Amino acid sequence: STEQKRSDYELMMHVAKFYQHQLKHHAKSSQVIEYLKGRGLSGETAKQFMIGYAPSEWDSVCKTFAKNQDSKKQLLELKLASEKTAGRQFDFFRDRLMFPIRDKRGRVIAFGGRVMNSDDNGPKYLNSPETRIFHKGFELYGLYEAKQANKKLDQILVVEGYMDVVALAEKGINYAVAALGTATTPEHIHTLFRTTDRIICCYDGDRAGRDAAWRALENALPYLNHGKALEFVFLPDGEDPDSLVQKEGREAFELRYDDATDFSAYLFDRLAQEINLTTDAGKSKLLQQALPLIEKVPSDFYQENLLEKLARLIGRTRAQLQKKINTPKQQQG
Ligand code: CTP
Ligand code: MN
Ligand code: MN
Ligand code: MN
Ligand code: MN
Repeated sequence: STEQKRSDYELMMHVAKFYQHQLKHHAKSSQVIEYLKGRGLSGETAKQFMIGYAPSEWDSVCKTFAKNQDSKKQLLELKLASEKTAGRQFDFFRDRLMFPIRDKRGRVIAFGGRVMNSDDNGPKYLNSPETRIFHKGFELYGLYEAKQANKKLDQILVVEGYMDVVALAEKGINYAVAALGTATTPEHIHTLFRTTDRIICCYDGDRAGRDAAWRALENALPYLNHGKALEFVFLPDGEDPDSLVQKEGREAFELRYDDATDFSAYLFDRLAQEINLTTDAGKSKLLQQALPLIEKVPSDFYQENLLEKLARLIGRTRAQLQKKINTPKQQQG
């Protein structure tokens, strides 16, 4: 019910504020603050993103917020608490740096928590599972904060991680969002193109990051309407936006997307990587792989550009290829 959801958002915000308070007042506070400083983050940025600390004790949140049967149930349902044996609840997040995930209206809907000691076992990041108020694949970490910080978003950087978003904001690049450890979904692209005309994907310089870029491209094609730009920045091996902006600073980092790779160049670069275009077999393979992708693009202007490029690569004319395209299609977005 709406009543129940309102109280869910209230509880989530209270817990976020509790974690924020612990960051300054817990016995381990100085270690947590050292960790933040070590990663180049100021108190101001921590505050902007409501970064907090989930205490190491096993039941801090439960003790503070489980006042009766209803609130015990609510903590379980929102995945703030777990129980192994019935009735014995413990905190879901313990001894972690906490990143509240907010929806577009600023309501806290989930958390991500990072371990601070490398010798800790368990995953580096622990994220809230799906709940009745948190639907992965729809939410973007940092979008609310980016909207708060900018009257108009001329561009949005899509990065992989929480730390990338906050490290960029620390350096003044306050328009980055992260897809929360999932792929960039069609819903993400749809949401982003309602907010900006230019999406720049900037994933980690590793295999996973390059695969994420390709999936983002595939998911974005149906949203490429007139005037929408989709670009890609590929980072050096082993770097991510956080590590790189720390090393080279804001201006050098921003230069990287001055001449970002346009989606159309990236599409053919990637396809052609595994195809020998000097043979007829290779050329027909490229045609076979590229056409279904090109068909997804709603803007006929972009579609013509893509066909032009494809025609040049395989020694045909655009007119010849145009006939093979299944049109028209519904505009989306
Ligand atoms: N992630 C996750 N669970 C993990 C590892 C990663 O959910 N065990 C998600 C997190 O959202 C993380 C993102 O994937 O931010 C990118 O992962 P990775 O590049 O490994 O982490 P970084 O963001 O670079 O974090 P850090 O710099 O703190 O190591
Ligand atoms: Mn869901
Ligand atoms: Mn990575
Ligand atoms: Mn990374
Ligand atoms: Mn990183």
